[in-house]
Amino acid sequence: MLIKLKINEKSFPNKTIFKDTSLEINEKDFVVIYGESGIGKSTLLNMIGLINDFDGEYYFNDILIEKKNREQTRINNFSYLFQDPYLIPYLSVYDNIVLPLKNMKADVDKEEIMGICKRLKIDELIERKPNKLSGGEAIRVSIARSIAANKRIIVVDEPTGNLDSDNAESVMNILKEENSKGKTIIMVSHSKEFEKFFNRIIKIENKKIIC
Ligand SMILES: Nc1ncnc2c1ncn2[C@@H]1O[C@H](COP(=O)(O)OP(=O)(O)OP(=O)(O)O)[C@@H](O)[C@H]1O
Ligand SMILES: [Mg+2]
Repeated sequence: MLIKLKINEKSFPNKTIFKDTSLEINEKDFVVIYGESGIGKSTLLNMIGLINDFDGEYYFNDILIEKKNREQTRINNFSYLFQDPYLIPYLSVYDNIVLPLKNMKADVDKEEIMGICKRLKIDELIERKPNKLSGGEAIRVSIARSIAANKRIIVVDEPTGNLDSDNAESVMNILKEENSKGKTIIMVSHSKEFEKFFNRIIKIENKKIIC
């Protein structure tokens, strides 16, 4: 088992989001999380991605994750793709893409990065600053950054919402390709349009995770 959450409770000051529920994720899963707006999809994604804490237990590779090994587990294994691309405005597209690698002091293989950019059709934009990109281009740059980081798990919060359906389909194809290469992908989506891409569907209902 790659990831296991045993949730006693996850609450915000005036709202309980999850109560007595659990979730398991296998290596190489491509999972989608469905549920109505405000039900806790992004919260669950952040719990899975070790960004949000909760009352319960979190196992990674069957090892209990506690305060002391939490940060390192997160840094070593997860990359994130959010609805907002969160590009750094004063860095070029290329420098934005390699930033996580530089932060980890990992080697940057320019050829490999350019290959990712070609697949995402942003290879001609690498010198530009983010404010000269269209919304769809900026999202594709953030996807390149999350793939270039080369982590085992990619956590994805509805990146296709602001894209037209051709662009959204090509993003899904690229994620599927990464999944076929062995990455585990956990994704929140509102639309049922991409169901064929996933091997597992998770729903949130009445504070429970339903697999
Ligand atoms: N940091 C926080 N403090 C207080 N309440 C929060 C916090 N984060 C989320 N919430 C609340 O928890 C609930 C679940 O939020 P979450 O963002 O997980 O929903 P969601 O299912 O992702 O919704 P959407 O589909 O609209 O993105 C919402 O009612 C939200 O207002
Ligand atoms: Mg959300």
